[in-house]
Amino acid sequence: MPLITFEGIDGCGKSTQIQKLKALLEGTGRKVYLFREPGGTPLSEEIRAILLDSNRTIHPVTEMILFSAARSDLITQQVQPLLQRGEWIILDRFYDSTTAYQGYGREAVRMEELSNLNHLATNGVIPDITFYLRVDRETASKRREGEAADRMEGAGDAFFERVIQGYDQIAEREPDRVTVLDASQPVEKVFDDLMVALKHHYGEID
Ligand code: TYD
Repeated sequence: MPLITFEGIDGCGKSTQIQKLKALLEGTGRKVYLFREPGGTPLSEEIRAILLDSNRTIHPVTEMILFSAARSDLITQQVQPLLQRGEWIILDRFYDSTTAYQGYGREAVRMEELSNLNHLATNGVIPDITFYLRVDRETASKRREGEAADRMEGAGDAFFERVIQGYDQIAEREPDRVTVLDASQPVEKVFDDLMVALKHHYGEID
């Protein structure tokens, strides 16, 4: 039951690496299920639209609960049934995003409360391997140039610095689960590093 998750700040290059990994795995004849968070079910997509709407003001605790509600729906409706069937699943963000963005970025609640909520929303599901694509804020902003900012992306530099610190601490605390990739490198080099870690975890992929 392979469950792989991707994390990093907006503009880290997550989507490119996810597409490359998905294509590689599908090339070996595997069926791969990819979901984005928040999203992946009709209810979660509706919550996503609310969360990313720049015209709204949302209290940090409300925001945290809404991200968690979207996750709970995705996990119970899609991820757990697929895991039970032994399918390959890639998640574009998971509970580490809530820890980094709502916990460290927004400083919404105490970490202990946040971990309880994460546990509740994920139903205790933990990824086999999490790729954290690490870039500094400046590199990420350059990559996003020209794109309209959603509500989260409009949160400012100090916020994103705290999010990065949050991710760094998650990676430090859970080195067996979280692989840090230097995402300031060229796309192909990042993907090579990713594949080394993936093979280390699952053995040869063929
Ligand atoms: P999205 O457009 O999917 O961003 P990206 O392509 O960078 O993943 O929007 C998701 C946004 O929501 C992103 O800014 C991160 C944020 N987010 C949280 O703040 N908390 C969470 O728990 C999750 C899943 C996402």
